[in-house]
Amino acid sequence: MDLPLPRYGPDIDGLVDHVLVSRYQLADRIGQLGREIAACYAGSEVTIVAVMTGSLIFLADLVRQMPLVARLDLTTVSSYPGDATTSQGPKFLLPISADLSGRHVLIVDDILDSGRTMELLIGTVNAQRPASVRSCVLLRKRRDDLSDRIDADFVGFDIENEFAVGYGLDFNHLYRNLPDVCVLSQHAIDPPAGGDA
Ligand code: IMP
Ligand code: MG
Repeated sequence: MDLPLPRYGPDIDGLVDHVLVSRYQLADRIGQLGREIAACYAGSEVTIVAVMTGSLIFLADLVRQMPLVARLDLTTVSSYPGDATTSQGPKFLLPISADLSGRHVLIVDDILDSGRTMELLIGTVNAQRPASVRSCVLLRKRRDDLSDRIDADFVGFDIENEFAVGYGLDFNHLYRNLPDVCVLSQHAIDPPAGGDA
């Protein structure tokens, strides 16, 4: 059953078709995730490698629910260089700068879709010989077509194979600021010719 559609304001209302995960569900689950992660790393220092830009809002909420001694390193990976609309394979735009050798590394990303981004990250982190590497994603997309997709160690929510925006996730660099994880209306995805949307 669809969640009630909030009123966002006149510039956004009408662009959102439905809410997949509400701000209240996000807050609850991220509190639990923070406790799960803190229990896993209790007594150890953790180095978080977070993938920009999609994980930004999730990261900010998650780290404040993790009472651990932690370092934070940001990296940027893109599968869609320039105005490409099909994945060209993930590549680093901003490489990992931290020294990860001997460290407990937690990779944080917004969503696991094909898993290729996470594979690239885990391979790159492992090349530095960390003490351990684990992964955390807010969303895990259902991809029944991919039998051997890499999995994540910590997952916020499983979602269907729909394109999600909000709470950090974008469509064409837009909608990251929505407080809920949403699916866009068709006319937000295909604006009418001649429109300025
Ligand atoms: P993967 O490499 O196919 O797993 O894709 C992961 C990356 O693609 C994520 O970090 C996102 O940046 C982007 N992505 C995949 N699915 C979505 C979506 O539904 N909404 C927004 N971004 C997505
Ligand atoms: Mg991404």
